[in-house]
Amino acid sequence: MSPRSILAGCGGYLPERVVSNEELAKTVDTSDAWIQERTGIKQRYFAAKHETAAFMGTEAARIALANAGATADDVDAIILATSTPDQAFPATALRVQAALGVTKGFGFDLSAACAGFIYGLSVADGMIRCGQARGVLVIGSEVYSRILNWQDRGTCVLFGDGAGAVFLRAARSTDDDRRGVLSTHIHAQGTLGDILYVDGAVGQPDKPGHLVMHGREVFRHAVTRLAEAVEEALAANGLTHADIDWLVPHQANKRIIDAMGKKLHLPPERVVVTVDRHANTSAASVPLAMAEAWGDGRIQQGDLVLLEALGGGLTWGSALVRL
Ligand code: UT7
Repeated sequence: MSPRSILAGCGGYLPERVVSNEELAKTVDTSDAWIQERTGIKQRYFAAKHETAAFMGTEAARIALANAGATADDVDAIILATSTPDQAFPATALRVQAALGVTKGFGFDLSAACAGFIYGLSVADGMIRCGQARGVLVIGSEVYSRILNWQDRGTCVLFGDGAGAVFLRAARSTDDDRRGVLSTHIHAQGTLGDILYVDGAVGQPDKPGHLVMHGREVFRHAVTRLAEAVEEALAANGLTHADIDWLVPHQANKRIIDAMGKKLHLPPERVVVTVDRHANTSAASVPLAMAEAWGDGRIQQGDLVLLEALGGGLTWGSALVRL
C-alpha cells in the first residue's frame, strides 16, 4: 500500500502593517461602503520591505513545523506557490530552505496564481504517495502589493500580502486509514488567460507587471468552476455534502464564499472566512485560513475539510482532507 499524506501542522504569517478601507480611500477613488458591500473586505495587510515572500514563507513554515512537532531534518521537499517571487531565481522555496536550515532534499516554486496552494498540495501528495519524499512543506507566500496598479480601483482594493504553510508527513496507510489527503483535483483552462493576468515579467523593461482583472467574468467562472470542483471531490470519495465538517475556501470575495457554502448546504459557522481581514492573498489565502481555524481550535483532528481555489490561468481545484 502506498503511503498517505497526513497534514501534520499548519502556520501563517501576516505583515505588521494593517491598511483599512478608509486608509485606502484617502488615495484611491473608492469607499469603505463599496468595498465591503461588493467583497466583504474591511482591511488587508501590506508587507514592509523586509517582509519578502521568502521571509513570510519561512515564518509560516516555522510555525507549521513546530505545530507538527517536526524539525528541519524532517523536510525532504519544499513547494512554494507564489506569483510574486522575490527573484526570478533562485526559487523562493530555496531561500526558505536555507533560512530554515534544511540541508537535504529539493524545492521549487509553483506558479498557478490563486490556486497555487491546491496545486502544491496535489504535487506534494503525489510525491509522498510514490515514495519520492516523506516530509513536504507546501507554502503559499504572496506580496501582491508589489504588482497592484494603484490607478485601477477595480483591483487595487482587493488584495493583501501574507503567507501560509502546511507540513505533510508520510504515514503508512495501515497506520490510520481515515486521516490524510483523500484526494486532490486540479484543472486549468489556458484559453481564459486574458481575464486575469499580470501584464509584465522579469526581463520586460517596458512592463513593470501589474495585475489586470475582468472581475465580473472571473466571478462568473469562479462560481461555476468551484462548484464543479467540490462536487468532483465528493463524488470521487463516495461522500455527500452532509459529510463535510469544514469548507476552507479561497478568500477572494465573500459573495463567492457564501455561494459555495449554500451549494454545499453548510451553515455559515462551518465555512472559514478571513477575507474580511486578510483580503485576497492569492496562493496564501487557503493555508492562512486553515492556520487560523485550526489554530483557534475550530477545526479538530478527525474533521473532514474541503479546500478549494480559483485563480489566473484560469487555474482551479479542490482538495479533500481528513485532519
Ligand atoms: O483570486 C482570483 C479570483 N478572483 C475573483 O474571484 C474575483 C471575482 N470578481 C469579483 O469579486 C468582483 O467582480 C469584483 C469585486 C472585482 C467587482 O465587483 P462587481 O460587482 O463585479 O463590480 P464591477 O467591476 O462590475 O463594477 C461596478 C461598479 C462600476 O461602476 P459603474 O460602471 O457601474 O458606474 C465600477 O466602476 O463599481 C465601480 N467600482 C468601484 N467603485 C468604488 C469598481 N471598483 C470600485 C471601487 N470603489 N474600488
